[in-house]
Amino acid sequence: MGLRAKFNISILAAFLIGLGLVAAFTWKVIRDNARIEVIHEARLIAAEAAAIRRYTVVEVRPLLANQSRTRFLPHTVPAFAAATTQRDFTAAFPDYTYKEAALNPTNPANRATAVEKAIIDDLRREGAPDTVITTRDSPTGPILSISRPLRIESKDCLTCHSTPAAAPVAMVDVYGPDNGFGWTLNEVIGAQIVSVPMQVALNRANDTFFQFIGGASLIFAGVLALLNLLLHFVVIRPIRAMSELASAISTGDLSGDEFPAKGKDEIASLAQSFNRMRRSLVSAMKLLDS
Ligand code: HEC
Repeated sequence: MGLRAKFNISILAAFLIGLGLVAAFTWKVIRDNARIEVIHEARLIAAEAAAIRRYTVVEVRPLLANQSRTRFLPHTVPAFAAATTQRDFTAAFPDYTYKEAALNPTNPANRATAVEKAIIDDLRREGAPDTVITTRDSPTGPILSISRPLRIESKDCLTCHSTPAAAPVAMVDVYGPDNGFGWTLNEVIGAQIVSVPMQVALNRANDTFFQFIGGASLIFAGVLALLNLLLHFVVIRPIRAMSELASAISTGDLSGDEFPAKGKDEIASLAQSFNRMRRSLVSAMKLLDS
């Protein structure tokens, strides 16, 4: 195997192993970052919904208190406010959804699906975590959901959610006596579930990954080409010329020119020694002839 092949094979092998390790590491970091970014988006939406809930209780409910006595106004209900504003948000950003899913909801639109029921059951367990993060596949790509328990922490909630008799009559007229009752204090009755599509972030992560790997490969190809040029002009060509001269001399042909030995590198010093050896050989031959 020639010098060029040895040199190229070793450098290529080192590069491929290095690139493989860097690619595996980068892939993991970039994908993890995409997930962190999506989780952050979901937390923003959850915080926005929480703000809307608070606004409803603090700002809207007191203003509508008088009217609520004669007519039930769902606009005073935080769950209604959050769900209504989020519907507009989802119209602008499909796949981004916010749901207050309940096992026994007042509004049937909030009834938990099978997947949501599994999440709620998980959150109802003794010692369950405060947040559950799940991912599922959808036709538009994976969807990440962050779920937090909806716990009845105040007795005020039970006015409307314990028994139909305790609830405002106007509310029971609208929602009926069958749903959204029987909740108890400290019970987890559902989950606040924010779902965010991951595909956009994953696509961006893939693009970044391939740009990085493509860039690294291009730089490597450039460096390899430069090293090959150097190898050719600085090492292989002079050695080949010297080797041809040496074989000519070995067959008794001393007619060739001196080898050009400019420079101070190892090849130049080899050429100088070679020229000296050749000169000594020529003088020795002359002595023998005379
Ligand atoms: C004045 C009555 C009233 C009070 C007080 C009230 N709710 Fe509700 N709640 C409702 C109504 C009505 C709905 C259905 C709203 C809709 O149409 O989306 C609802 C819906 C919900 C939902 C969505 C799931 C479902 O049942 O449709 C949750 C969760 C909820 N309430 C939790 C609470 C909590 C927690 C409290 C106490 C902080 C509370 N509610 C206090 C009337 C009330």
